Amino acid sequence: MSYKKVILNEFGGPEVLKVIEEENLPEPAAGEVRVKILAASATFTDTMVRKGIYFGFKETPPLSPGYDMVGVVDKIGANVDGFERGQMVADLTVFGAYTEYMLRPADSLVPVPAEVSPTDAVSMVLSYLTAYQMLHRVAKVKSGQSILVHGAGGAVGTALLELGKLLDLKIFGTASASKRELVEGLGAVHIDYAQEDFLARMQAEGKVDAAFDAISGENFKRSFQSLKKGGILVPYGFYDNAMGKGGSVPIDFMKVALWNILPNGRKASFYSIGDLRKKNPEWFKEDLDALFALLKEGKLKPAIERAMKLEEAAEAHKLIESAAVKGRIVLTVGE
Ligand SMILES: NC(=O)c1ccc[n+]([C@@H]2O[C@H](COP(=O)([O-])OP(=O)(O)OC[C@H]3O[C@@H](n4cnc5c(N)ncnc54)[C@H](OP(=O)(O)O)[C@@H]3O)[C@@H](O)[C@H]2O)c1
Repeated sequence: MSYKKVILNEFGGPEVLKVIEEENLPEPAAGEVRVKILAASATFTDTMVRKGIYFGFKETPPLSPGYDMVGVVDKIGANVDGFERGQMVADLTVFGAYTEYMLRPADSLVPVPAEVSPTDAVSMVLSYLTAYQMLHRVAKVKSGQSILVHGAGGAVGTALLELGKLLDLKIFGTASASKRELVEGLGAVHIDYAQEDFLARMQAEGKVDAAFDAISGENFKRSFQSLKKGGILVPYGFYDNAMGKGGSVPIDFMKVALWNILPNGRKASFYSIGDLRKKNPEWFKEDLDALFALLKEGKLKPAIERAMKLEEAAEAHKLIESAAVKGRIVLTVGE
């Protein structure tokens, strides 16, 4: 049986994403499961993979992007227990999820409750898990504390806002004017970073207990300066650098490490979903389970601006790279 897949044969702009037809379904080896994909996120990180600038990513074309997916178990390889055909599962694939079918090691799959929609569920994997672990595992924020979230109208930003609200945090969110309504609707104080100096505002507001920053460069420094004594900066991405606005990833790493050891009463600790999964695989499953439970209880409503078809992946990337997405885009796969 043939199936569709989005691949790139060379790194580059959105136009390198091509829809192809594979002739035969892949067969699961021992320990593997074939998953029929229902939904995959389209994220800023996928655009970095597509451009060949994703830090530490060693794969070379031809490849499919697709950092996460939700699907149903389609065929089970030998020596696999605990799964049944038709069961909904999720995984953080890092790449490869822009496809109708894929093979995954059975031990990396997380069961998804049948009551939640695949598009909501897939939003939990890369974006919400990143937000959840930064809040709970790294910054360890407490109810009533204040936080600063940059890119508050984006995929991870809106997840931080929703999860932060559940924790009763006071949240300041930087975003362009186009995302004001979304940010305020999620209960945060909107700061239009193009019109207002966020550091001056944080100083006027008495500073924050934690700052979550994926913008990079000078922004990291100013976020660090926005912290109260005892506060923590969690840098987790390099948006400006990826958008060609300069800066250096290795230098940013060095600066953050230095700020963390200097006796300044504040901490700084990088977050990487992949590194934390490697170090603490049980946290990955535990935290994703917690997010699926919140979703099932109706406590989370991911800000999905658009569901697009897998075949529209190139268009989705264009929208993401022009910061035109309020919240997130999910690619729906199959019928
Ligand atoms: N470390 C990890 O494990 C991890 C996991 C997931 C994602 N990430 C990284 O996190 C970053 C965000 O990912 P995402 O999926 O949330 O991307 P996204 O949905 O594209 O959101 C990024 C947002 O940043 C806003 N923005 C751009 N420049 C800004 C500035 N100077 N100040 C404040 N906001 C600004 C953009 O919209 P406006 O300009 O219109 O406000 C956009 O909404 C990416 O760099 C990604 O690679 C890291």
